[in-house]
Amino acid sequence: MTEQAHITLKVNNEPVEVSFAPYKTLLEVLREDLNLCGTKHGCELGECGACAVLLDDLPVLSCLVLAVECDGRRVTTIEGLVTDGRLHPLQEAFADLGAAQCGYCTPGFLITAKALLDEHSHPTRDQIREALAGNLCRCTGYQQIFEAVEAAIQSGAAGVEVERGPRSAGQEEA
Ligand code: FES
Ligand code: FES
Repeated sequence: MTEQAHITLKVNNEPVEVSFAPYKTLLEVLREDLNLCGTKHGCELGECGACAVLLDDLPVLSCLVLAVECDGRRVTTIEGLVTDGRLHPLQEAFADLGAAQCGYCTPGFLITAKALLDEHSHPTRDQIREALAGNLCRCTGYQQIFEAVEAAIQSGAAGVEVERGPRSAGQEEA
């Protein structure tokens, strides 16, 4: 039997202990061991952005991070963007403006956009485009996504603190 790795970490502000096969990525542990299926697996090669999460508040591609490297760290997934049952303004804007169609890429876009707004409260269209350049979408043509990020900024998305919460937009089961 494969020896198990065991780590403690904070996921969406909740302390979590988890055991898993030591070769697993953070993406695999989130989905398979913590049942947080909002984070999507796409290419698993670091090329599509579907698996983006925040690690100590910085965006990472969870398919490229070994879970054993996350001991003692903070992880924010799409499930953590809801506060007190309310969608994050980015989620509202994506829903309102048709920026989520099939929705598979949406959690990655939302997490990456959240990281951008944590850094820049009023990014330009070019800065938004650059920040989201590593996230691929097959459905929207990107225009609605850029417009949704801008609409969220207008509605005060920058600076919204995130906590844990129930299932929300952009985290459908896969
Ligand atoms: S699944 Fe991680 S970048 Fe594609
Ligand atoms: S909404 Fe379908 S891949 Fe982006």
